[in-house]
Amino acid sequence: MTEFDAVDVIRTKRDGGSLSGDQIDWVIDAYTRGAVADEQMSALLMAILLRGMNVDEIARWTQAMIASGERLDFAGVGRPTADKHSTGGVGDKITLPLASVVAACGVAVPQLSGRGLGHTGGTLDKLESIPGWRASLAYDEIVNQLRDVGAVICAPTDTLAPADRKLYALRDVTGTVESIPLIASSIMSKKIAEGTQALVLDVKVGSGAFMKNVDDARELAATMVELGAAAGVRTVALLTNMASPLGRTAGNALEVRESLEVLAGGGPSDVVELTVTLAREMLAAAGVEGDIDPTDVLKDGTAMDVWRRMIRSQGGDPDAPLPRARETHDILAPTEGVLVELDAYQVGVAAWRLGAGRSRKEDPVSAAAGVELHAKPGAHVRAGQPVLTLHADDPGRFPRAVEALKGAITIAPAGARPDQPLVIDRLG
Ligand code: URA
Repeated sequence: MTEFDAVDVIRTKRDGGSLSGDQIDWVIDAYTRGAVADEQMSALLMAILLRGMNVDEIARWTQAMIASGERLDFAGVGRPTADKHSTGGVGDKITLPLASVVAACGVAVPQLSGRGLGHTGGTLDKLESIPGWRASLAYDEIVNQLRDVGAVICAPTDTLAPADRKLYALRDVTGTVESIPLIASSIMSKKIAEGTQALVLDVKVGSGAFMKNVDDARELAATMVELGAAAGVRTVALLTNMASPLGRTAGNALEVRESLEVLAGGGPSDVVELTVTLAREMLAAAGVEGDIDPTDVLKDGTAMDVWRRMIRSQGGDPDAPLPRARETHDILAPTEGVLVELDAYQVGVAAWRLGAGRSRKEDPVSAAAGVELHAKPGAHVRAGQPVLTLHADDPGRFPRAVEALKGAITIAPAGARPDQPLVIDRLG
């Protein structure tokens, strides 16, 4: 590999130039090996955030991150594979019912997921509220479970895109997360290295998402769809609304409970709609459209059967009671009218402050903490009616969570309608 000087690479980007393919290969490899220092990579990441990267640079950056580790191969599982990735939101528990639904329809789902950071929840944290459930699986355990059960939700193996793991941790503490080229390459390097044949991206838009406006979300989605297609992964992206939380819960065990309602054929209509929509996209991308409909496997219990086998296979007890918080605190509607807005970001911050999320990677999370919604945008509320219930083990956490929710609830006179379609656009 050609050697470069890190300072020259930084200067090129700082001055608005394009990095060559060889420069990118070198800097990613050298950083992963420890030959480029954190402060040098921090400077380069900030230059990328400010100057951007062109299509060729993004594709090469992604390839270099894939090449920093091993690629998984699920060709031996005996069925087509499809995965879903959400860019993260509040109350976004869709992966939980979705993996079981898609597997029940005949497509294997290797869902390598993450933990929550900041105001957004993480799938692994949610599942860890199930007694005994284990997030870390070896590669052969993943393959065996995909073959036997059809669905796996677990932590990425250590060898999957290690450059991204190091870079993501650095971006998190250097204010360089919010760069479309860096987000797109980070997500797609892991998904391509994971070896799925088809990928459906749920790009969240709104206050509770990384992308606050539709134009940025569309650019991120288009970049990721292009990266997937170039790597031979059939990739589709949906832009979906994250102005208010998904479903009626935000918090780990609370969201598992709601997912079980969906798997039992009930649950909030937005969670069901998004689960079914994404499942149909995954089945179509995997080439098995039309055989079985996702709504059938929710009604006839086969998705629930997959869920129970998936949880058991990872050491969890699907019948064990989920943790419940020791204390609750209601937030009441100040006036009567139509709830037109319930701000997702503020609800996410409240859940985080109640203990559902972490500020540093090493922090523990509370399984029982979170926020329960009694009304969704569009509902009529009476003055004094509980709109939210806060759940925490430690009542000392309530004041800061209440503070986070100031101005989060907007009530308009009767007749007003919130303008919030769930699926905003589709690309790919
Ligand atoms: N999720 C990722 O995996 N990477 C990002 O950069 C942002 C969200």
